[in-house]
Amino acid sequence: MQPTIAFIGAGNMCRAIFGGMLKNGYPADKITATGRSIEKLDDLAAQGINVTTDNAQAIKNSQVVVLGVKPQMMQAVCEPLAQVCQQQQPLIISVAAGISAQSLEAWLGGNLPVVRCMPNTPSLVQEGASALCANTQVDQKQKDIAQQIIANTGLALWVDSEAQLNVVTALSGSGPAYFFLLMESMIDAAVSQGLSTQVATELALQTARGAAVIAQEEQDSPAQLRRKITSPKGTTEQAILSFQGAGFAQIIKQGMQANIDRSEQLSLELG
Ligand SMILES: NC(=O)c1ccc[n+]([C@@H]2O[C@H](COP(=O)([O-])OP(=O)(O)OC[C@H]3O[C@@H](n4cnc5c(N)ncnc54)[C@H](OP(=O)(O)O)[C@@H]3O)[C@@H](O)[C@H]2O)c1
Repeated sequence: MQPTIAFIGAGNMCRAIFGGMLKNGYPADKITATGRSIEKLDDLAAQGINVTTDNAQAIKNSQVVVLGVKPQMMQAVCEPLAQVCQQQQPLIISVAAGISAQSLEAWLGGNLPVVRCMPNTPSLVQEGASALCANTQVDQKQKDIAQQIIANTGLALWVDSEAQLNVVTALSGSGPAYFFLLMESMIDAAVSQGLSTQVATELALQTARGAAVIAQEEQDSPAQLRRKITSPKGTTEQAILSFQGAGFAQIIKQGMQANIDRSEQLSLELG
């Protein structure tokens, strides 16, 4: 299945998606990328991708439309595209945070198959973790197409509802920032104890990578892995007990709840 695809707003996230597609052998001439200025699309034209500043024109020739503009711009970008979407009836995939499928469908004239996707920043290096959610108009073949497109950026899993996409936002969408914060705090603590910033940073980053690789490769859950490497009365145990005493799990839960609350608020503001 190699449908023609229009990427509306060829910014970071769209480039991550079609960059992965091209790497994996997707024909460049089946992809159209749009933007506000044609100069910003020159590098894509050089790779054989069709480029235009005319969003409607891009959709006219496409079976799939990926909406990649910023959430605040989505309504203004979508409404002028209602006519061409109603004629063409493409599969719509939106990567925009906080914009409901219902709003997208309404702005695009109604009754369209819409898949919402919540990607994350590591998609930019093909190490993404994305979740997808489909409205009732999306059939199995279209689900497969959406999954194949997003899988070019890394992991792509389905969730059952848009409410669950808010939980995904709190987990994997914003998750990279939480891990950066943990790395930052560990580096700061080590530096305050006398390590150089460079040594502390290199050790912290490699530790994060190593822990992620083990957690993915082993059958054990993260909780089991943690217990396995926490010897009674050892150094790791002392740190874990100190974290737990300070309410570590509760702090994470509260932060993720604050994230979910903000997603719900943004959805109300943006549509
Ligand atoms: N980056 C992430 O890690 C991430 C994670 C999760 C979700 N997302 C979602 O992905 C979407 C895009 O984010 P991004 O980081 O890729 O933003 P971005 O780099 O700013 O990309 C948006 C692109 O849309 C273009 N654009 C603006 N108005 C347009 C119009 N009328 N017609 C065509 N193109 C237009 C912009 O062009 P100009 O440069 O000329 O303005 C820009 O290239 C957002 O909705 C965001 O919620 C991103």
